[in-house]
Amino acid sequence: MKTGYKLYSLTSVERLDLVHESYDVSDVYIVERLFSSSLVVVVSHDKPRQMNVLHFKKGTEICNYNYSGNILSIRLNRQRLVVCLEESVYIHNIKDMKLLKTLLDTPRNPYGLCALSINHSNSYLAHPGSSTSGEISLYDANCLKCECTIPAHDSPLAAIAFNATGTKLASASEKGTVIRVFTVPEGQKLYEFRRGMKRYVNISSLVFSMDSQFLCASSNTETVHVFKLEQLPERTEENVSWTGYVGKMFMAASNYLPAQVSDMMNQDRAFATVRLNFSGQKNVCTLVTIQKLPRLLVHRESSSGHLYVYNLDPQDGGECVLIKKHGLLGPMKSDTDGESDTDGAVPASYAATVARLSSVPSTSTVTGYSEDGGALRGEIIPEHELAVGPVRLDDETEFPPISMCRGPKKFTEDCP
Ligand SMILES: *[C@@H]1O[C@H](CO)[C@@H](O)[C@H](O)[C@H]1NC(C)=O
Ligand SMILES: *[C@@H]1O[C@H](CO)[C@@H](O)[C@H](O)[C@H]1NC(C)=O
Ligand SMILES: *[C@@H]1O[C@H](CO)[C@@H](O)[C@H](O)[C@H]1NC(C)=O
Ligand SMILES: *[C@@H]1O[C@H](CO)[C@@H](O)[C@H](O)[C@H]1NC(C)=O
Ligand SMILES: *[C@@H]1O[C@H](CO)[C@@H](O)[C@H](O)[C@H]1NC(C)=O
Ligand SMILES: *[C@@H]1O[C@H](CO)[C@@H](O)[C@H](O)[C@H]1NC(C)=O
Repeated sequence: MKTGYKLYSLTSVERLDLVHESYDVSDVYIVERLFSSSLVVVVSHDKPRQMNVLHFKKGTEICNYNYSGNILSIRLNRQRLVVCLEESVYIHNIKDMKLLKTLLDTPRNPYGLCALSINHSNSYLAHPGSSTSGEISLYDANCLKCECTIPAHDSPLAAIAFNATGTKLASASEKGTVIRVFTVPEGQKLYEFRRGMKRYVNISSLVFSMDSQFLCASSNTETVHVFKLEQLPERTEENVSWTGYVGKMFMAASNYLPAQVSDMMNQDRAFATVRLNFSGQKNVCTLVTIQKLPRLLVHRESSSGHLYVYNLDPQDGGECVLIKKHGLLGPMKSDTDGESDTDGAVPASYAATVARLSSVPSTSTVTGYSEDGGALRGEIIPEHELAVGPVRLDDETEFPPISMCRGPKKFTEDCP
């Protein structure tokens, strides 16, 4: 926000819990929290070259670091903290914040595209390997060595994302027509999804569901696409599935198919979609499980700052149903943008029905995936403990006291 930042927790569809708010730093443009821990990294427009690492629960600064240029993005897992500048990448050890490696003269990366596997046992890092083509550099941030380069697209990259185990990598190029999924660390192509052929779009977010069953892509258009990563049946010449057959025909014929036909086939490719009531504005999406059901969240980056919650039908897909709209920046303004809140006006579809049935008290309903993406039990503060009871986190073991940001390099990772 212009005035600071807020951290929320969404444990039930209906309730957005404010975990923390801070007005110490203004014009914040990066806030990254280490899973559900008290560690937060903040960068503001006032000092775009400075990263502040904070313990928000204690309200103290752990350390700060200055870089040679503006910070474009920061990624963290339980092993590494990665800072991405336009033409360099800095890899810190998150335990003591020591700088382990600087990748200098990386290909120009104006949007700070960078993905870090949340699984800290592999800590793969992906960033553009070229500024003119869609090549991906895959780097092992634990062992500090290059893994491979993946020639993912012809045109420059627009988005990259790992799955939760860090064994799949999805990518889209700036044309936004095709989304590809590769194996990690080998870089072999597993899937290819067509988002649409009719026009180029700017992909603004790309994310796997925690179980890697779904991949979601949002853009500057009003449609969010959800793809299903199904195990495709082996195709032989005699046994060609309908989808495979149509797919092949479509690939061969797409150059001269009339627009309507190609539209129909493209829609067939996305398992589910969300139709937003806005376009042209930057938005960020994610796939989560709340109250045992898969949900798609859309954050619209506008002055009013809204979070939309949709239900995703994991069996039949189709159009996702909007079930809740939360205002993030305080009380919601009354419909200045022509949208209405959905309370009491929910369509009677499968998804909407299950959502209504599941509106039970929120505290005990956080099940399914760990919101920490596989972080070890007992090591971090679960969200509900933060909100109510005493904090059990032993910060001395969680993050050894950091007296200095610099110091002798100690490197004890288990690398071959
Ligand atoms: C970074 O720069 C700021 C001034 O902008 C300074 O106060 C701070 O001490 C510097 N941090 C380090 C670690 O040198
Ligand atoms: C993390 O990756 C390691 C090695 O690649 C794998 O054995 C492990 O199961 C993964 N852990 C999680 C939580 O995904
Ligand atoms: C994508 O974004 C760039 C820069 O913001 C803009 O120039 C371009 O027209 C956009 N492309 C599409 C297809 O919207
Ligand atoms: C990530 O992708 C790999 C490779 O397909 C798969 O084995 C693994 O189960 C996926 N991770 C999760 C969390 O589903
Ligand atoms: C094609 O093969 C798959 C798996 O081998 C099988 O499940 C499917 O029924 C076959 N389809 C046809 C039309 O024979
Ligand atoms: C979005 O717009 C459509 C058509 O303009 C309208 O029917 C629908 O109720 C709107 N949805 C919301 C949540 O405002």
